[in-house]
Amino acid sequence: MSERVGLALPIVLIGAMGAGKSRVGQRLAASVDAPFIDTDARIVERHGPIEQIFARRGEEAFRAVEREIVAEALREPAVISLGGGAVLHPDTREDLAGLPVVWLRVSPEAVAPRLSGGNRPLLADGGLATWRAILEERTPIYRSLADLDIDTSRRSVARIVADIAGHFGGAR
Ligand code: S3P
Repeated sequence: MSERVGLALPIVLIGAMGAGKSRVGQRLAASVDAPFIDTDARIVERHGPIEQIFARRGEEAFRAVEREIVAEALREPAVISLGGGAVLHPDTREDLAGLPVVWLRVSPEAVAPRLSGGNRPLLADGGLATWRAILEERTPIYRSLADLDIDTSRRSVARIVADIAGHFGGAR
């Protein structure tokens, strides 16, 4: 009989756009029988499409809305996937310092097809080159917050979930 793995919650997934935070988060949550929160999805539910917030109110307003949603989410016992830029907020970095954090990494080659056809406002100009520049800027932040980092470029979601559960989990 297979043992159930228990995780201390919340557990938080961070990383660049297209790194697989939502896909992995969903599967991880299902595998440990925990709720899943995607902060981008919660923003959309409450405030409408992200590209519309950027277009009408600008990035700064988006970050303020994002911070509120993230602060709320981080108080819930769930698997939480954060938008790639959520870590730019100092209060969010402070919150994350005390929580289990997984940094999902991905190579530019592997992310390219995942980004195509998307509607991320920050990549509207420059596409992959902009993605690289943003990642370079944020890498020190992701690194400083992460308890575990996993390259998702060539790993199956099942394998990534198993790696996370293996690192943080204990049988229950
Ligand atoms: C952003 C990432 C997006 C979304 C918004 C801004 C960023 O989320 O929050 O478009 O600044 O990296 P994903 O990382 O889920 O794509």
